[in-house]
Amino acid sequence: MQRQWVLVTGASEGIGRAFAELAAEKGFDLVLVARNAARLEQAAQAVRGLGREAVVIVADLSDPVEVERAWAEASIGRRIGWLVNNAGLGSHGKFAAPDGWARERLSLDVNIDALTRLMKLALPHMEGAGGGRIINVASNAGFMPGPGMAVYHASKSYVLSLSQVVADEMRNRGVTVTALCPGPTRTALFDSAGIGDLPVVKRFPMPGAADVARAGWDAAMAGQRVIVPGGMNKLMAWSTWITPPGLLLSLTRRFWARPR
Ligand SMILES: NC(=O)c1ccc[n+]([C@@H]2O[C@H](COP(=O)([O-])OP(=O)(O)OC[C@H]3O[C@@H](n4cnc5c(N)ncnc54)[C@H](OP(=O)(O)O)[C@@H]3O)[C@@H](O)[C@H]2O)c1
Repeated sequence: MQRQWVLVTGASEGIGRAFAELAAEKGFDLVLVARNAARLEQAAQAVRGLGREAVVIVADLSDPVEVERAWAEASIGRRIGWLVNNAGLGSHGKFAAPDGWARERLSLDVNIDALTRLMKLALPHMEGAGGGRIINVASNAGFMPGPGMAVYHASKSYVLSLSQVVADEMRNRGVTVTALCPGPTRTALFDSAGIGDLPVVKRFPMPGAADVARAGWDAAMAGQRVIVPGGMNKLMAWSTWITPPGLLLSLTRRFWARPR
């Protein structure tokens, strides 16, 4: 049987890098995609140190041409058995603020467009090869609107929604789709979104990236469509179904608020 490769986007750090190392431990070879060549090479060395092959593709997934190139480079001559659609970023501030657009545009390009396109490219490839698994990294943020991180929350709602539909469409067709919805996780995401200094970020007890990746991997293996790792995060996600929308907005607004 042709060996299966795991393609991880955003593999240069955080949850993506944890996925890469976990997949290597599980005996898979890796295709690692992100922008930062030096950090990707470090991730590749970690994979090789675990006895597996690692191919590095430096690509800016906010550019649709780069998304196509990354997929072509990854998949020509390789069977991509797993796609971990993990690359993502957030932005903080009021939606109406005039200066947020550049980063919001990037979030939409990476969190939504690149993820959608890669999944669309991967489905026929996987189905044609006899099956596969897709993990889309959404977020607990996808269960609720998020004043202060409006575009981020909305982008993750999109990922959660789309993943469930595609999982349903692909049932009995050999390809599973899992939306991984972590709560706050100790990675560089908060610093890059400009909120590493928020008290809630400093004080909130957060799991590490490796725990989150393991929960996502196990759920994908089990063919689970949505996974919220951690008891407290599950409670938060479920509580959104019974919390009045106005109260939910006000709670989330307070969560992301910058103290005066
Ligand atoms: N940390 C959390 O609390 C949390 C909670 C829920 C969900 N998530 C989700 O988990 C995923 C991973 O985030 P993380 O927490 O691990 O954050 P992170 O440490 O900041 O990692 C983000 C990854 O995405 C890559 N990336 C960003 N922009 C990119 C672009 N234009 N093209 C290619 N790659 C790009 C980065 O690589 P380069 O900079 O090298 O390009 C990096 O590898 C994201 O989708 C995030 O929304 C995170």
